[in-house]
Amino acid sequence: MSQQSLPCQGDDDEKQIETRVPEEQNRELIQRLAERVKELAALHRAARILQDESKSVPQLLQELVELLPPALQYPEVTAARITLGSTEFKTSNFIGTPWSQRVEFTAGNMRGALEVVYLDEVPEGDKGLFLQEEKNLLNSLAEMITSAMNREYAQEALRESERRLRDMLTNIEMIAVMADMNGDITFCNDYLLRLTGWKREEAIGRNWFELFLPEDEKEKVREILIGVEPAGEVTIHLANAIKTRSGERRLVKWTNTTLRGLNGKIIGVAALGDDITERKAAEEQLRASSEQLRALSERLRRAKEEEGKRIARELHDELGSALTSLKWGLLGLKEVCLGKQSPEGPATMGREIEQMIALVDETVNTVRRISSELRPSMLDDLGVVAAIEWQTLEFHKRSGIQSDFDSVAENATLDREQDAELFRVFQEALTNILRHAGATKVNVLIDEDDGQLVLEVRDNGRGITEMEKHGARSLGLLGMRERVKSIGGEIEIIGEPGKGTRLTVRIPMKADALPGPNPTGLSVRAKSQ
Ligand SMILES: Nc1ncnc2c1ncn2[C@@H]1O[C@H](COP(=O)(O)OP(=O)(O)OP(=O)(O)O)[C@@H](O)[C@H]1O
Ligand SMILES: [Mg+2]
Repeated sequence: MSQQSLPCQGDDDEKQIETRVPEEQNRELIQRLAERVKELAALHRAARILQDESKSVPQLLQELVELLPPALQYPEVTAARITLGSTEFKTSNFIGTPWSQRVEFTAGNMRGALEVVYLDEVPEGDKGLFLQEEKNLLNSLAEMITSAMNREYAQEALRESERRLRDMLTNIEMIAVMADMNGDITFCNDYLLRLTGWKREEAIGRNWFELFLPEDEKEKVREILIGVEPAGEVTIHLANAIKTRSGERRLVKWTNTTLRGLNGKIIGVAALGDDITERKAAEEQLRASSEQLRALSERLRRAKEEEGKRIARELHDELGSALTSLKWGLLGLKEVCLGKQSPEGPATMGREIEQMIALVDETVNTVRRISSELRPSMLDDLGVVAAIEWQTLEFHKRSGIQSDFDSVAENATLDREQDAELFRVFQEALTNILRHAGATKVNVLIDEDDGQLVLEVRDNGRGITEMEKHGARSLGLLGMRERVKSIGGEIEIIGEPGKGTRLTVRIPMKADALPGPNPTGLSVRAKSQ
């Protein structure tokens, strides 16, 4: 170019031709340059339009289509149209003409096209009606639209899936919470707020450790958060306590996951939490009560063994020696009867026989005592009400504690098993009063209420405490509860500090129960003191 524009020496004509040629060339170059500038300007404006996130897709495409005519060689006779799926965006002067240039593209799952037309015939260049640069411009714009639309679709899909995820997390019956790497809360769902009593605006942006973690849990959880970045992952399962606004502790089992930014860097932790407070307590209670039951059955087994041993000893010591004495006495009599031994006189024989009768009487009593210890005969002879009355009297005699008995149960009818279990419960109640209550007075009342036999035992002692009632070692009480349960009844124990303890047992009476020989149809008002 510089060579062409150098001034040449020679005649004027030659000079004129030489200067005209570079001038024309310059003009042409300037014109071509102006065309390129228009195209560049169009590309630049298109890029800016496509970057504008505040505008909707139809707005963007309409602005783009308006850009096209001014960017072409003959703007005054140029019109443009963009189609996307079944929608069209066009300049107001657009009509179909034979002089068109079209580029197709696909954005998302939609097909589209970019089209420019001349409304009038224009001079054709060496590459056709449209310049190569103009075709390139259309191609570039189509590519820009494709990638911008794809980005928009992807972002929309992401926004939609985030929306759905948040909707799900908001409504799920579990805790859902997200925090950044400082532990500052970026999201939490309604469930967490309901559970802890905080409002959303009080929780979002606050630090998880400060707001929700009890002092003794902070260190453990903080260590986990500190370990996330070096390890590239978070401890997936974890259980720890959180505190509510009122300071109550809830035990939560977490499933954690890391949150990553677009560059893949860890930006926080998302956690789903299951409130297992009640479940854990129920498990604990179940474990404790099954342990208690094991202990109770072990005690019963041992008691049975002990009782067996005692009865064997009594049978051996008392009945064994009595029967042996009787045998010797009878052998002596036999000798006398057979005339082998000279009698020492009828008086002596009579004394020996009397001694033997006395021994038999004693033995009969021993047998009665042993068998009534096994199952009080009164239960069978007179029924449970009379047996309880008798036991109250015995208790008074043994302990010296004033003991009143009263029964207004007119038609009480329990079966044999209920009789026996209720009696054992009553015995344990008296034993407890003697051992623990420090009472000076006991009231025993039997009543009938709505088809149930009601036994009430009241003492005026120190009053059982709640702790004692539910203590793991309270096997006597547990045994009472189990016995009452096994015969379909209910038991209630209420202690009032310094005033005493009241035990109430209710046993449903069975209409078809087979009572003992003398059913408990007492209408007595007995006083045993
Ligand atoms: N009438 C009562 N007045 C005050 N405290 C009582 C009374 N009955 C029971 N308790 C308290 O409740 C606790 C539990 O009673 P429970 O009968 O289960 O056990 P225990 O009598 O101590 O032992 P055991 O298992 O031999 O019966 C007692 O240790 C006592 O502290
Ligand atoms: Mg006891």
